[in-house]
Parts: sequence; C-alpha cells; structure tokens
Amino acid sequence: MECAIYKHSSLFLCCLVLLSPLVFCQLNYMFYDSTCPNLTGVVRYNVWSAISNESRIAASLLRLHFHDCFVNGCDGSVLLDDTSTFTGEKNALPNKNSLRGFEVIDTIKSALEKACPSTVSCADIVTLAAREAVYLSGGPFWPVPLGRRDGTTANKTEANNLPSPFEPLQNIIDKFITKGLDINDVATLSGAHTFGFAQCFTFKSRLFNFGSKGKSDPALDSSLLQTLQKLCPDQDDSDTKLAPLDPVTTNRFDNMYYRNLVNNSGLLQSDQALLGDNRTASLVLNYSKYPFLFLRDFAVSMEKMGRIGVLTGQEGEVRKNCRVVN
Ligand code: HEM
Ligand SMILES: *[C@@H]1O[C@H](CO)[C@@H](O)[C@H](O)[C@H]1NC(C)=O
Ligand SMILES: *[C@@H]1O[C@H](CO)[C@@H](O)[C@H](O)[C@H]1NC(C)=O
Ligand SMILES: *[C@@H]1O[C@H](CO)[C@@H](O)[C@H](O)[C@H]1NC(C)=O
Ligand SMILES: *[C@@H]1O[C@H](CO)[C@@H](O)[C@H](O)[C@H]1NC(C)=O
Ligand SMILES: *[C@@H]1O[C@H](CO)[C@@H](O)[C@H](O)[C@H]1NC(C)=O
Ligand SMILES: *[C@@H]1O[C@H](CO)[C@@H](O)[C@H](O)[C@H]1NC(C)=O
Repeated sequence: MECAIYKHSSLFLCCLVLLSPLVFCQLNYMFYDSTCPNLTGVVRYNVWSAISNESRIAASLLRLHFHDCFVNGCDGSVLLDDTSTFTGEKNALPNKNSLRGFEVIDTIKSALEKACPSTVSCADIVTLAAREAVYLSGGPFWPVPLGRRDGTTANKTEANNLPSPFEPLQNIIDKFITKGLDINDVATLSGAHTFGFAQCFTFKSRLFNFGSKGKSDPALDSSLLQTLQKLCPDQDDSDTKLAPLDPVTTNRFDNMYYRNLVNNSGLLQSDQALLGDNRTASLVLNYSKYPFLFLRDFAVSMEKMGRIGVLTGQEGEVRKNCRVVN
C-alpha cells in the first residue's frame, strides 16, 4: 500500500485528501473490492457450512475474534501455532482446550488463497467470520471496515490476562478501558453470551460453596441452580462438561441473555454481575425489553472492538497460512 509512504508527509497528505481513503492507512469498507471481490461470499458460504455442521461454531468464531482483538490488537495473533522457537497464545489459560474455530479459519483462508492469493489478512478473515457467524445466527449485520494486517508476534502473557469470569466486574471494566472500550461496551459485548457454551469449571464455584460459605450464589435462580448442579456434580471430573450460556434460545443471537439476567439466570458470575452493578443494570434492563436496541448497540460495539490495535498499511504482513508467520 502506498499509504505508508505518504504517511509522514503532510504536504502529500493535504493534496491526496480527496483521492483515496487508502492514503490514510486506515481501515475502510472497500479495501478488497477490487482485489478480492467475492471475499464476503467466500466467508459467508464457509461459515454457513460450518454452522450447518455444528451450530455452536458460530459462537466459537465470535469468541475467537474477541480473544484476537484483546491480545496484541486484531492482528490474527491468536491463530499462530506454538513452535520450538515461537510461543503462541493458544495454550494460554483462557484459550487452552476452550478456544475453537481454527479449522474454519484455515478452510476460509485456503479458499481465499485460491481466489485471491496473498491478499486477505487472517485478521480480516477472523473479523468477517465473526460478523457472518452473528448474522447467520439471527443477529445484526454490520459493515466491517477492512485492511487489517497480520502480526508477526504473539503474546501469551497478555492472553493469560484476558477477562476472567472469576474476577470482579470492576477488573473487567478496567481491562476493557485499557483497550479503548468503555463500561457500556462491557455490558453490550457481554451479550455475546446469548449463544455458545461454557465448561462447568467456569461457573461451578457458584453452585455449591459460593464464597466459601457452604451455600450457592444467592444471585442464581433456584431452578437453574438445580439443573446446573445435576449437570456439574461437585467433583473434578465434571469440570469440562458443557452448559449453554443461554439455556432458553441456546443457538440464537438475540436479547435472551439479558432477559435471563433479569431472571437471575446468568451462567457466569461475571454475567450476573452486570445486573448487580447500578452502572450497568439500566442497560441490561433496557436490552431485556428492547431487542433491537441491543442488536443495534452490539453492532456498534463490535466495530469498535474490531479496531483495537490494528496494523495497517505496510505494518505486519498478509500471512499465507494463518497458523505461521510467512
Ligand atoms: C466480559 C468479559 C468476558 C468474560 C469474563 C468471558 C468469559 C467467558 C467464558 C469463561 C467462556 C466459556 C469458556 C469455556 O468454558 O471454555 C466464554 C464463552 C464465550 N464467550 Fe465470553 N467472556 C467475556 C466477554 C466476551 C465477549 C466480549 C465476547 C464476544 C464479543 C464473548 C464471546 C463468547 C462466546 C460466543 C462464548 C461461547 C464460545 C463457544 O461456545 O465456543 N465473551 N466467555
Ligand atoms: C463467491 O463464492 C461463493 C462461495 O465459494 C460461491 O458460491 C459464489 O458462486 C461466488 N460468487 C461469485 C460471483 O464468484
Ligand atoms: C463438524 O463438527 C464436528 C464437531 O461437532 C467437528 O469435529 C468436525 O470437524 C466438523 N466437520 C466439518 C467438516 O466442519
Ligand atoms: C506482552 O503483554 C504484556 C502484558 O500486556 C506486556 O507487559 C509485555 O510487554 C508484552 N510482551 C511483548 C513481547 O510484547
Ligand atoms: C423470567 O421469569 C418470569 C417470571 O418467573 C417469566 O415469566 C419469564 O418467562 C422468564 N423469562 C425468561 C426469559 O425466562
Ligand atoms: C450505586 O451503587 C453504589 C455502591 O453500591 C452507591 O454508592 C451509589 O450511590 C449508587 N448510585 C446510584 C446512582 O444509585
Ligand atoms: C434506559 O432506558 C431509559 C428509558 O428509556 C433511559 O432513560 C435510560 O437512559 C436508558 N439507560 C441506558 C443506560 O441506556
């Protein structure tokens, strides 16, 4: 991209203002229009095909984008495999035996390498796959600005620092603020937990001996508590069993997450905490009542998240294989 050449020349910049958004090295909505015109078609078809095989994969693809963007920015670093000389993020605690969807990204990447070789970054593929996954699950559609470049490094330390369901809401809010997001984005993006699954160990502390007081979490609905206690008995071998994040409309991207919270039926402690904090509770209540408000805000927050720490212009590279740097 020429943009990097002009980047530091204000003289050039002022003359080129009208020519092309590329000049500014910013993401833009037409980035691949001439170089890979069927990009959206290829991504949509492959995400649709993966969802037809297994509906949960939609949720997994959305989470993949979140974990990419929160570590080193949306630069595809989450996709890099460990090698003897390189430490990736896949084995960080929040990701190991948990993050999914890598094969779908690989499939899309190989299709795109055939259609438009060395053109579309893995970071953009993950971003588009997340959008398609939400859209095809009944959620909102939003235009995705493109032109992200792929990173050449990863940061396992930072991946270990991803928001945890066990930490206080204030810590989670602080982590979002560090990424340029705000407290409303925490409440809005958490709505992603309207589909997908969580392993028992991520919420089991709420079921039997909450806060070491020998009782369950008082903020957990009693009938959901019974269901979860059966699914996740109080012994280690239940740790990896799966519970739906939204037991009512499990695979559908809707506002049921917030309606569940209002009923004390949030699965993770960090989910239910959004209703327990008066700074986020009013948004939760509004989303529980007005589905379109949630869907609209979610789209806006997703675009915001998709801009975190992006590489553009001549920064980074366009990987040929999403699992390894070129
Ligand atoms: C606010 C802080 C957040 C915390 C503490 C959190 C925590 C978690 C945990 C513990 C799981 C279950 C993982 C497992 O059991 O293997 C999970 C799943 C999931 N998370 Fe989050 N999450 C947060 C925010 C987000 C955001 C911002 C998104 C996307 C916009 C997201 C999307 C998802 C999805 C879709 C799943 C289900 C994945 C699947 O079924 O494969 N989460 N999250
Ligand atoms: C775009 O790609 C999809 C999926 O591979 C394919 O079904 C469709 O025919 C393609 N469209 C064009 C115009 O090439
Ligand atoms: C279909 O989904 C299963 C998990 O349910 C997965 O193991 C398998 O790889 C998927 N197959 C394809 C072709 O995506
Ligand atoms: C990785 O992230 C940590 C925590 O955010 C930061 O302190 C560290 O400098 C980063 N390491 C590299 C190599 O960028
Ligand atoms: C929430 O609880 C109320 C009263 O128990 C019930 O009418 C409603 O259907 C529940 N909503 C959801 C989403 O389960
Ligand atoms: C919100 O809660 C905090 C702490 O629980 C309390 O100090 C504050 O007065 C409350 N604010 C409002 C507007 O209710
Ligand atoms: C929720 O809706 C009420 C009534 O429409 C409005 O006054 C309030 O500002 C909204 N709260 C948030 C956080 O959006």
